[in-house]
Amino acid sequence: MIELDSLVKRFLHKDKEARETWKTAVDGLSLSVGEGEIFGLLGPNGAGKTTTIRMLTFQTAPTEGRIFYDGKELSEHERELKQLIGVVPQHVNFDQDLTVGENLELHARLHHMGKEERRQRIAELLQYVELDSVVNDRVRRLSGGMKRRLLIVRALIHRPRILFLDEPTVALDPQVRRRIWELVRRMAREQVTVFLTTHYIEEAEALCDRVAIMNKGKLISLGAPLELCRKLGAYAVEWDGSGGREYRFFRERKEASGFAAMFDGQEKVQVRRTNLEDVFIELTGRKEGI
Ligand SMILES: Nc1ncnc2c1ncn2[C@@H]1O[C@H](COP(=O)(O)OP(=O)(O)O)[C@@H](O)[C@H]1O
Ligand SMILES: [Mg+2]
Repeated sequence: MIELDSLVKRFLHKDKEARETWKTAVDGLSLSVGEGEIFGLLGPNGAGKTTTIRMLTFQTAPTEGRIFYDGKELSEHERELKQLIGVVPQHVNFDQDLTVGENLELHARLHHMGKEERRQRIAELLQYVELDSVVNDRVRRLSGGMKRRLLIVRALIHRPRILFLDEPTVALDPQVRRRIWELVRRMAREQVTVFLTTHYIEEAEALCDRVAIMNKGKLISLGAPLELCRKLGAYAVEWDGSGGREYRFFRERKEASGFAAMFDGQEKVQVRRTNLEDVFIELTGRKEGI
Protein backbone atom coordinates (compact mmCIF):
# COMPACT_ATOMS: atom_id res chain seq x y z
CA MET A 1 0.00 0.00 0.00
CA ILE A 2 1.35 3.39 -1.08
CA GLU A 3 0.02 6.57 0.49
CA LEU A 4 0.74 10.13 -0.55
CA ASP A 5 -0.38 12.72 1.94
CA SER A 6 -0.57 16.34 0.72
CA LEU A 7 2.66 16.15 -1.26
CA VAL A 8 4.14 19.42 -2.42
CA LYS A 9 7.31 20.07 -4.41
CA ARG A 10 8.56 23.56 -5.16
CA PHE A 11 11.61 24.46 -7.19
CA LEU A 12 13.51 27.70 -6.95
CA HIS A 13 13.80 29.37 -10.35
CA LYS A 14 16.16 32.20 -11.24
CA ASP A 15 15.33 34.52 -14.10
CA LYS A 16 17.87 36.46 -16.22
CA GLU A 17 18.24 39.18 -13.60
CA ALA A 18 18.87 36.49 -10.98
CA ARG A 19 15.52 37.19 -9.34
CA GLU A 20 14.33 34.13 -7.51
CA THR A 21 10.82 32.75 -7.66
CA TRP A 22 9.35 29.50 -6.42
CA LYS A 23 7.58 27.28 -8.89
CA THR A 24 5.20 24.62 -7.62
CA ALA A 25 5.63 21.38 -9.60
CA VAL A 26 3.42 19.22 -7.36
CA ASP A 27 0.68 20.97 -5.47
CA GLY A 28 -0.93 19.09 -2.56
CA LEU A 29 -1.20 15.59 -4.02
CA SER A 30 -3.00 13.00 -1.88
CA LEU A 31 -3.89 9.50 -3.03
CA SER A 32 -3.32 5.85 -2.18
CA VAL A 33 -2.52 2.79 -4.25
CA GLY A 34 -3.39 -0.77 -3.26
CA GLU A 35 -1.26 -3.89 -3.47
CA GLY A 36 -1.11 -5.50 -6.92
CA GLU A 37 -2.83 -2.53 -8.50
CA ILE A 38 -1.71 -0.95 -11.79
CA PHE A 39 -1.99 2.73 -11.06
CA GLY A 40 -1.39 5.46 -13.62
CA LEU A 41 -0.54 9.13 -13.29
CA LEU A 42 -1.85 10.74 -16.45
CA GLY A 43 -1.22 14.30 -17.51
CA PRO A 44 0.36 16.57 -20.12
CA ASN A 45 4.04 17.51 -20.16
CA GLY A 46 4.91 19.59 -17.15
CA ALA A 47 1.99 18.28 -15.06
CA GLY A 48 4.34 17.07 -12.32
CA LYS A 49 4.39 13.31 -13.03
CA THR A 50 8.15 12.80 -13.05
CA THR A 51 8.57 14.98 -9.98
CA THR A 52 6.01 12.81 -8.17
CA ILE A 53 7.83 9.60 -9.13
CA ARG A 54 11.14 11.13 -8.07
CA MET A 55 9.72 11.91 -4.63
CA LEU A 56 8.34 8.37 -4.35
CA THR A 57 11.71 6.82 -5.23
CA PHE A 58 14.10 8.74 -2.97
CA GLN A 59 15.48 10.90 -5.77
CA THR A 60 14.20 14.17 -4.39
CA ALA A 61 12.66 15.12 -1.05
CA PRO A 62 9.15 16.58 -0.86
CA THR A 63 8.95 20.25 0.14
CA GLU A 64 5.87 19.37 2.19
CA GLY A 65 3.76 16.30 2.86
CA ARG A 66 4.49 12.68 3.59
CA ILE A 67 4.76 9.33 1.82
CA PHE A 68 4.12 5.91 3.36
CA TYR A 69 4.75 2.37 2.13
CA ASP A 70 2.77 -0.14 4.19
CA GLY A 71 2.31 2.52 6.85
CA LYS A 72 6.03 3.29 7.13
CA GLU A 73 7.15 6.81 6.36
CA LEU A 74 9.69 7.00 3.55
CA SER A 75 12.05 9.52 5.11
CA GLU A 76 12.33 7.44 8.28
CA HIS A 77 12.89 4.01 6.73
CA GLU A 78 14.95 4.84 3.67
CA ARG A 79 17.30 1.83 3.71
CA GLU A 80 14.56 -0.70 4.25
CA LEU A 81 12.04 0.79 1.86
CA LYS A 82 14.57 1.28 -0.94
CA GLN A 83 14.78 -2.50 -1.18
CA LEU A 84 11.01 -2.66 -1.79
CA ILE A 85 11.05 -0.60 -4.96
CA GLY A 86 12.23 -0.93 -8.56
CA VAL A 87 12.52 2.13 -10.77
CA VAL A 88 12.28 2.46 -14.55
CA PRO A 89 13.35 6.02 -15.38
CA GLN A 90 12.00 8.17 -18.20
CA HIS A 91 15.34 8.17 -20.00
CA VAL A 92 17.61 5.20 -20.75
CA ASN A 93 20.56 5.47 -18.38
CA PHE A 94 22.67 2.36 -18.91
CA ASP A 95 26.39 2.41 -19.44
CA GLN A 96 26.02 1.82 -23.17
CA ASP A 97 29.56 0.54 -23.62
CA LEU A 98 28.99 -2.32 -21.21
CA THR A 99 27.14 -5.44 -22.26
CA VAL A 100 23.58 -6.26 -21.25
CA GLY A 101 24.87 -8.84 -18.78
CA GLU A 102 27.45 -6.48 -17.27
CA ASN A 103 24.89 -3.75 -16.69
CA LEU A 104 22.55 -6.14 -14.91
CA GLU A 105 25.40 -7.66 -12.89
CA LEU A 106 26.33 -4.19 -11.68
CA HIS A 107 22.80 -3.50 -10.48
CA ALA A 108 22.50 -6.90 -8.76
CA ARG A 109 25.76 -6.27 -6.89
CA LEU A 110 24.51 -2.90 -5.72
CA HIS A 111 21.64 -4.80 -4.16
CA HIS A 112 24.05 -7.18 -2.41
CA MET A 113 22.85 -10.27 -4.20
CA GLY A 114 25.01 -13.39 -4.03
CA LYS A 115 26.78 -14.69 -7.11
CA GLU A 116 24.55 -17.69 -7.79
CA GLU A 117 21.37 -15.75 -7.07
CA ARG A 118 22.50 -13.00 -9.47
CA ARG A 119 23.24 -15.45 -12.22
CA GLN A 120 19.90 -17.21 -11.91
CA ARG A 121 17.76 -14.10 -11.58
CA ILE A 122 19.39 -12.34 -14.55
CA ALA A 123 19.03 -15.42 -16.76
CA GLU A 124 15.39 -15.90 -15.74
CA LEU A 125 14.43 -12.27 -16.39
CA LEU A 126 16.23 -12.02 -19.73
CA GLN A 127 14.38 -15.09 -20.88
CA TYR A 128 11.11 -13.65 -19.60
CA VAL A 129 11.45 -10.61 -21.88
CA GLU A 130 13.14 -12.55 -24.68
CA LEU A 131 16.46 -10.79 -24.43
CA ASP A 132 18.56 -13.81 -23.48
CA SER A 133 20.19 -13.94 -26.91
CA VAL A 134 21.74 -10.46 -26.49
CA VAL A 135 23.24 -10.93 -23.03
CA ASN A 136 26.77 -10.42 -24.39
CA ASP A 137 25.94 -7.51 -26.71
CA ARG A 138 26.83 -3.97 -25.82
CA VAL A 139 23.71 -2.01 -24.82
CA ARG A 140 24.55 0.53 -27.54
CA ARG A 141 23.65 -2.05 -30.17
CA LEU A 142 20.10 -2.72 -28.93
CA SER A 143 16.99 -1.17 -30.46
CA GLY A 144 14.97 1.39 -28.51
CA GLY A 145 12.35 -1.22 -27.62
CA MET A 146 14.97 -3.66 -26.38
CA LYS A 147 16.57 -0.99 -24.19
CA ARG A 148 13.18 -0.21 -22.67
CA ARG A 149 12.59 -3.88 -21.85
CA LEU A 150 16.07 -4.05 -20.40
CA LEU A 151 15.31 -1.07 -18.13
CA ILE A 152 12.39 -3.07 -16.76
CA VAL A 153 14.54 -6.16 -16.25
CA ARG A 154 17.08 -4.11 -14.34
CA ALA A 155 14.35 -2.68 -12.11
CA LEU A 156 13.08 -6.18 -11.32
CA ILE A 157 16.34 -7.95 -10.45
CA HIS A 158 16.08 -7.59 -6.68
CA ARG A 159 12.39 -8.67 -6.69
CA PRO A 160 10.81 -5.32 -5.75
CA ARG A 161 7.23 -5.31 -4.51
CA ILE A 162 6.54 -1.92 -6.06
CA LEU A 163 7.56 -1.09 -9.60
CA PHE A 164 7.72 2.55 -10.73
CA LEU A 165 7.75 3.27 -14.45
CA ASP A 166 8.10 6.80 -15.80
CA GLU A 167 6.65 6.96 -19.33
CA PRO A 168 7.65 3.35 -20.08
CA THR A 169 6.56 3.32 -23.73
CA VAL A 170 7.44 6.81 -24.88
CA ALA A 171 8.44 6.85 -28.58
CA LEU A 172 7.96 3.10 -29.05
CA ASP A 173 6.04 1.59 -31.93
CA PRO A 174 2.63 0.07 -31.13
CA GLN A 175 3.86 -3.53 -31.21
CA VAL A 176 6.64 -2.95 -28.71
CA ARG A 177 4.28 -0.88 -26.58
CA ARG A 178 1.89 -3.82 -26.35
CA ARG A 179 4.68 -6.16 -25.29
CA ILE A 180 5.58 -3.79 -22.48
CA TRP A 181 1.93 -3.61 -21.41
CA GLU A 182 1.86 -7.42 -21.31
CA LEU A 183 4.96 -7.44 -19.15
CA VAL A 184 3.46 -4.91 -16.75
CA ARG A 185 0.27 -6.98 -16.49
CA ARG A 186 2.33 -10.08 -15.74
CA MET A 187 4.07 -8.26 -12.90
CA ALA A 188 0.74 -7.14 -11.45
CA ARG A 189 -0.53 -10.74 -11.58
CA GLU A 190 2.47 -11.63 -9.44
CA GLN A 191 1.22 -9.10 -6.86
CA VAL A 192 3.77 -6.44 -7.73
CA THR A 193 2.20 -3.01 -7.33
CA VAL A 194 2.75 -0.95 -10.47
CA PHE A 195 2.88 2.84 -10.38
CA LEU A 196 3.39 4.37 -13.80
CA THR A 197 3.17 7.73 -15.50
CA THR A 198 2.04 8.32 -19.04
CA HIS A 199 0.73 11.02 -21.30
CA TYR A 200 -0.84 8.44 -23.61
CA ILE A 201 -4.59 8.17 -23.10
CA GLU A 202 -4.79 4.69 -24.65
CA GLU A 203 -2.03 3.47 -22.37
CA ALA A 204 -3.86 4.60 -19.26
CA GLU A 205 -7.16 3.17 -20.54
CA ALA A 206 -5.72 -0.16 -21.61
CA LEU A 207 -3.46 -0.82 -18.69
CA CYS A 208 -4.46 0.93 -15.51
CA ASP A 209 -6.94 -0.26 -12.89
CA ARG A 210 -7.16 3.34 -11.73
CA VAL A 211 -5.75 6.62 -12.93
CA ALA A 212 -5.05 9.97 -11.35
CA ILE A 213 -5.30 12.77 -13.88
CA MET A 214 -2.90 15.61 -13.07
CA ASN A 215 -2.69 19.13 -14.40
CA LYS A 216 -0.28 21.85 -13.27
CA GLY A 217 0.74 19.87 -10.21
CA LYS A 218 -2.80 19.24 -9.02
CA LEU A 219 -4.94 16.14 -8.96
CA ILE A 220 -8.03 16.84 -11.04
CA SER A 221 -9.67 13.42 -11.16
CA LEU A 222 -9.17 9.93 -9.74
CA GLY A 223 -10.80 6.60 -10.47
CA ALA A 224 -11.08 3.66 -12.86
CA PRO A 225 -10.89 4.89 -16.48
CA LEU A 226 -14.37 3.61 -17.32
CA GLU A 227 -15.84 5.11 -14.19
CA LEU A 228 -14.38 8.56 -15.00
CA CYS A 229 -15.79 8.38 -18.52
CA ARG A 230 -19.20 7.24 -17.25
CA LYS A 231 -19.36 10.15 -14.82
CA LEU A 232 -19.08 12.52 -17.76
CA GLY A 233 -21.42 10.40 -19.93
CA ALA A 234 -20.25 7.24 -21.67
CA TYR A 235 -21.02 8.55 -25.19
CA ALA A 236 -19.68 11.68 -26.83
CA VAL A 237 -21.07 13.63 -29.74
CA GLU A 238 -18.58 16.01 -31.35
CA TRP A 239 -19.09 18.40 -34.21
CA ASP A 240 -17.67 21.51 -35.92
CA GLY A 241 -19.30 24.39 -34.08
CA SER A 242 -18.82 28.13 -34.19
CA GLY A 243 -15.98 27.96 -31.65
CA GLY A 244 -14.16 25.01 -33.21
CA ARG A 245 -14.77 21.39 -32.32
CA GLU A 246 -17.59 21.12 -29.78
CA TYR A 247 -18.67 18.25 -27.54
CA ARG A 248 -21.67 16.96 -25.63
CA PHE A 249 -21.85 13.86 -23.49
CA PHE A 250 -24.69 11.40 -22.97
CA ARG A 251 -25.35 8.41 -20.77
CA GLU A 252 -26.89 6.26 -23.51
CA ARG A 253 -25.83 5.70 -27.09
CA LYS A 254 -29.47 6.18 -28.14
CA GLU A 255 -29.58 9.69 -26.67
CA ALA A 256 -26.27 10.54 -28.35
CA SER A 257 -27.45 9.27 -31.74
CA GLY A 258 -30.72 11.17 -31.34
CA PHE A 259 -28.83 14.38 -30.69
CA ALA A 260 -26.45 13.74 -33.61
CA ALA A 261 -29.39 13.18 -35.96
CA MET A 262 -30.49 16.80 -35.48
CA PHE A 263 -27.47 18.15 -37.38
CA ASP A 264 -27.85 18.77 -41.12
CA GLY A 265 -24.63 17.12 -42.31
CA GLN A 266 -22.31 20.15 -42.62
CA GLU A 267 -20.88 19.88 -39.13
CA LYS A 268 -18.91 16.60 -39.38
CA VAL A 269 -20.79 15.02 -36.49
CA GLN A 270 -19.30 12.00 -34.81
CA VAL A 271 -20.76 9.73 -32.13
CA ARG A 272 -18.18 7.76 -30.15
CA ARG A 273 -17.30 6.51 -26.71
CA THR A 274 -16.07 9.06 -24.21
CA ASN A 275 -12.36 8.78 -23.37
CA LEU A 276 -10.01 10.14 -20.72
CA GLU A 277 -8.95 13.00 -22.95
CA ASP A 278 -12.56 14.23 -22.89
CA VAL A 279 -12.48 14.00 -19.11
CA PHE A 280 -9.29 16.05 -19.05
CA ILE A 281 -10.55 18.75 -21.42
CA GLU A 282 -13.89 18.98 -19.63
CA LEU A 283 -12.21 19.42 -16.25
CA THR A 284 -9.46 21.83 -17.28
CA GLY A 285 -11.02 23.64 -20.22
CA ARG A 286 -7.70 23.09 -22.01
CA LYS A 287 -8.36 22.27 -25.66
CA GLU A 288 -4.86 20.97 -26.34
CA GLY A 289 -5.54 18.00 -24.07
CA ILE A 290 -3.11 15.55 -22.57
N1 LIG B 1 14.88 19.92 -11.09
C1 LIG B 1 13.99 20.86 -11.43
N2 LIG B 1 14.27 22.17 -11.26
C2 LIG B 1 13.38 23.14 -11.58
N3 LIG B 1 12.16 22.88 -12.10
C3 LIG B 1 11.81 21.61 -12.31
C4 LIG B 1 12.71 20.53 -12.00
N4 LIG B 1 12.08 19.36 -12.31
C5 LIG B 1 10.88 19.69 -12.80
N5 LIG B 1 10.70 21.02 -12.79
C6 LIG B 1 9.49 21.75 -13.25
O1 LIG B 1 8.36 21.17 -12.61
C7 LIG B 1 7.27 21.04 -13.50
C8 LIG B 1 6.82 19.59 -13.57
O2 LIG B 1 7.80 18.83 -14.26
P1 LIG B 1 7.73 17.25 -14.40
O3 LIG B 1 7.49 16.65 -13.07
O4 LIG B 1 8.96 16.82 -15.12
O5 LIG B 1 6.43 17.05 -15.31
P2 LIG B 1 5.98 15.81 -16.21
O6 LIG B 1 6.80 14.62 -15.87
O7 LIG B 1 4.52 15.65 -15.89
O8 LIG B 1 6.16 16.24 -17.64
C9 LIG B 1 7.72 21.61 -14.82
O9 LIG B 1 7.29 22.92 -14.93
C10 LIG B 1 9.23 21.54 -14.74
O10 LIG B 1 9.83 22.54 -15.51
MG1 LIG C 1 7.97 13.35 -17.06
